[in-house]
Amino acid sequence: MGTLILFMLFSALFAPATSTNRTLSESLSLSSENPEDVLTSPNGVFSAGFYSVGDNAYCFAIWFASRPSRSQDRTVVWMANRDQPVNGRKSKLSLLRTGNLILSDAGKFTVWETNTISISSLELVLYDTGNLVLRTLGGENLWESFHFPTDTLLPQQLLTRNTKLVSARSHTNYSSGFYKLLFDIDNVLCLIYDGAEVSSSYWPAPWFSSSQTGRFPFNSSRIAFLDSFGNFSSSDKFTFSSADYGQLLHRRLTLDYDGNLRLYSLESLDEEGEMWVVSWQAFQIPCTIHGVCGANSICSYVLGIGRNCSCLPGYKMINHTDWSQGCEPELDLSYGKSDGFLPLSHLDFYGYDYNNNPDNYTLDKCKKLCLESAECKAFQYTFDTTLGFSKCYAKIQLMNGYRTPYFEGTFYLRVPENILPWNANLAKEIGLNCSSEGPLLLGRVYLKSRVYGTGKFMLWFVCGLGGLEIVGIFLVWCLFIRTPNSSSADKRYLLAITGFRKFTYLELKKATKGFTEEIGRGAGGIVYKGVLADNRVAAIKQLYETNQGEDVFLAEVSIIGRLNHMNLTEMWGYCAEGKHRLLVSEYMEHGSLADNLSSNSLDWKKRFEIALGTAKGLSYLHEECLEWVLHCDVKPENIFLDPNYQPKVADFGLSKLQSRGANDNSSFSRMRGTRGYMAPEWVFHLPITSKVDVYSYGIVVLEMVTGKDATKGVHVIDSGGEPQQKGLLSWVREKKKRTASTKSWLAEIIDPRLKGKYDIGKMETLIGVALQCAEEKKDARPSMRQVVEMLLAQENDHQ
Ligand SMILES: *[C@@H]1O[C@H](CO)[C@@H](O)[C@H](O)[C@H]1NC(C)=O
Ligand SMILES: *[C@@H]1O[C@H](CO)[C@@H](O)[C@H](O)[C@H]1NC(C)=O
Ligand SMILES: *[C@@H]1O[C@H](CO)[C@@H](O)[C@H](O)[C@H]1NC(C)=O
Ligand SMILES: *[C@@H]1O[C@H](CO)[C@@H](O)[C@H](O)[C@H]1NC(C)=O
Ligand SMILES: *[C@@H]1O[C@H](CO)[C@@H](O)[C@H](O)[C@H]1NC(C)=O
Ligand SMILES: *[C@@H]1O[C@H](CO)[C@@H](O)[C@H](O)[C@H]1NC(C)=O
Ligand SMILES: *[C@@H]1O[C@H](CO)[C@@H](O)[C@H](O)[C@H]1NC(C)=O
Ligand SMILES: *[C@@H]1O[C@H](CO)[C@@H](O)[C@H](O)[C@H]1NC(C)=O
Repeated sequence: MGTLILFMLFSALFAPATSTNRTLSESLSLSSENPEDVLTSPNGVFSAGFYSVGDNAYCFAIWFASRPSRSQDRTVVWMANRDQPVNGRKSKLSLLRTGNLILSDAGKFTVWETNTISISSLELVLYDTGNLVLRTLGGENLWESFHFPTDTLLPQQLLTRNTKLVSARSHTNYSSGFYKLLFDIDNVLCLIYDGAEVSSSYWPAPWFSSSQTGRFPFNSSRIAFLDSFGNFSSSDKFTFSSADYGQLLHRRLTLDYDGNLRLYSLESLDEEGEMWVVSWQAFQIPCTIHGVCGANSICSYVLGIGRNCSCLPGYKMINHTDWSQGCEPELDLSYGKSDGFLPLSHLDFYGYDYNNNPDNYTLDKCKKLCLESAECKAFQYTFDTTLGFSKCYAKIQLMNGYRTPYFEGTFYLRVPENILPWNANLAKEIGLNCSSEGPLLLGRVYLKSRVYGTGKFMLWFVCGLGGLEIVGIFLVWCLFIRTPNSSSADKRYLLAITGFRKFTYLELKKATKGFTEEIGRGAGGIVYKGVLADNRVAAIKQLYETNQGEDVFLAEVSIIGRLNHMNLTEMWGYCAEGKHRLLVSEYMEHGSLADNLSSNSLDWKKRFEIALGTAKGLSYLHEECLEWVLHCDVKPENIFLDPNYQPKVADFGLSKLQSRGANDNSSFSRMRGTRGYMAPEWVFHLPITSKVDVYSYGIVVLEMVTGKDATKGVHVIDSGGEPQQKGLLSWVREKKKRTASTKSWLAEIIDPRLKGKYDIGKMETLIGVALQCAEEKKDARPSMRQVVEMLLAQENDHQ
């Protein structure tokens, strides 16, 4: 019945000859009063009509006809009058006899028009591609919506020298926002933040030259487009492929209101209908998008939630509903020559430098530079390890604040003399306090070593001033900005965008040729080598059976999927079918640290690098305050080496996967790890913290230094002339105690296969760190982060 009425309505509205194509012909109009008054593309994918954007406010829009599940909103791809919505009553889109297509508000004035003129008859047609075309009956196009994009580019739609994408203002407000995607005067496709007061370009990363970003500025044709298979290419040689390349899905490239450019694919879920998943995005770390938190504020990344803005100490939010307006000083700041500075570590403010030459300043000189100017609000002070001197950037504006443990510089906020006493309180407020209620998870960085070598990584690390966040062209990082209420749909979303995916059991059975080539066996399960359908060689771990439900497994596995660090093996996916639980990760051709130690293929330099890299990987797992992933089985068999001998820690996150399922089996959940590497807490049933990994790490380092196997111990001849077996740790400790006065004990324990070729200073540090890590009392052990710092300091001293 309903269909019949609808049909009759269409027949009445649209010209009879074209009723199957549903076009709008001359002298007819679409009205905002009738929600069924829409044009539909012949394939039924797109609709065009009046779309409600607020109370009694409508825009003429094109949207995907199918409504994604769990969402009340349509997916709008184009709007005629986004900045000037019309009334719900008596507003009309009309095709005039003059050939002009106009949108009139409440029947009175025109808010939008195509400005077309034609003497021949015209029709307005919505094509299968989502292009709304005004054409003559002879087939000549006079106007098309593809030439006037709003925030979305559809497949086949060209982005040209004359067009740009402009983001929406917010999730609920479709009017023009602050972010733009366009070709700049250098012919480079870029993202620009165009805020109320400032503008800046933030993609490609502004601190790199076009050769570093791989952009080609000499093609002035300025054309970019997305094909239906998911390849995007631009005349500046920027290209990307969507994670689900090749599949024929509905796609859209949208510049979202948060300034991130994302490619979405409409995927159908088995029972849940359809949903948009992100199959590529420009930024993994949303904090590096400019203007995110406004002036004088700090953006930090909270896992599972996304970015979080906060004000600098002494500043307050300007508008409590809108972070983009930033923060303002709580008190009047009148700067003078005797002002103080509040140091805030791991905090970066990009741009707005007051001095051109930042190099080779002492801290005092930098302070003086800032104090000399009434404009200087703060300065950034970083030590450049490659150049061997410090850099000082005095700031006249505090924009793009970003806090991450991976930024090694310190930010010094100028505090006027009259309010100096606040100082102490402020520092506390901003400092990381591990005992306070909300653990703060900070932004993370993932650099694909294939693309960016480690050497370069360190260089950029220090030069880039927050230039850490390499625009994620390859890997995409999850962020839950739109859907904070976590559900299984979110997990799909996460999995799709990290490239971390679900495999079927059959797929993995095929990849491993029926689980034949076993390459390892550990506490959690058996590892097989396999070749995936796309020819990637994978290590596939079949976990021992647990009675864990699939949703719990998925929840944990999604955390593992989010872990990305150059010193962790890359996780590619998982399988959860029936009782089968498998994890798929990259396979490391160079074998484990254990293999390499026993074959004596590691010189001293490599061993130090491996100790440092492993510490970085573990430090990342432990993450600042929140011990959210303990490894619990750190040993040389679980540390793999890449072709450059950079370590990659494997098998992380298993403790998480198993502990939940093993609630009923306390012995299983209690004892974890490998004899020889296990911290005393395990034995004495003390609380398990990240310090158990620190302990194991200490033992691994001792192995690397001595070349001895911790599981076997050391054969010694005791005072009575009897052969005896001693633990590696106690052997080293005893040697140290006995000959502490002289340095000869070092020579006695160091791996003889190194033939005396090592740096004695580094060696001392390394052994010192290892012994400290292996302290009996967990509080006496450093954190992994401190270990990284100690080793890095040693490395810097010796440059
Ligand atoms: C519908 O559109 C197609 C192509 O746009 C055209 O070939 C066809 O003749 C149209 N059908 C009618 C009934 O107008
Ligand atoms: C959307 O944002 C614009 C610009 O800030 C503002 O003028 C307008 O009132 C907002 N609309 C709604 C419905 O909030
Ligand atoms: C799409 O991109 C991939 C990877 O960059 C490439 O191998 C493939 O040839 C591209 N396909 C087309 C049709 O350009
Ligand atoms: C410029 O880019 C366009 C579009 O990608 C391409 O067709 C053309 O060959 C390029 N021209 C040059 C000189 O590279
Ligand atoms: C965001 O930051 C503010 C200020 O630091 C803090 O109070 C709040 O708890 C943070 N939110 C989350 C979700 O971490
Ligand atoms: C805060 O911003 C919102 C949205 O931009 C605006 O509607 C509101 O009036 C502002 N409030 C104040 C106090 O300025
Ligand atoms: C840094 O400055 C000092 C003097 O302040 C100078 O002696 C030194 O050579 C400079 N170092 C470099 C690497 O430019
Ligand atoms: C950390 O926070 C706790 C509780 O909020 C407080 O008692 C403690 O003094 C703080 N520690 C530091 C060093 O600020």
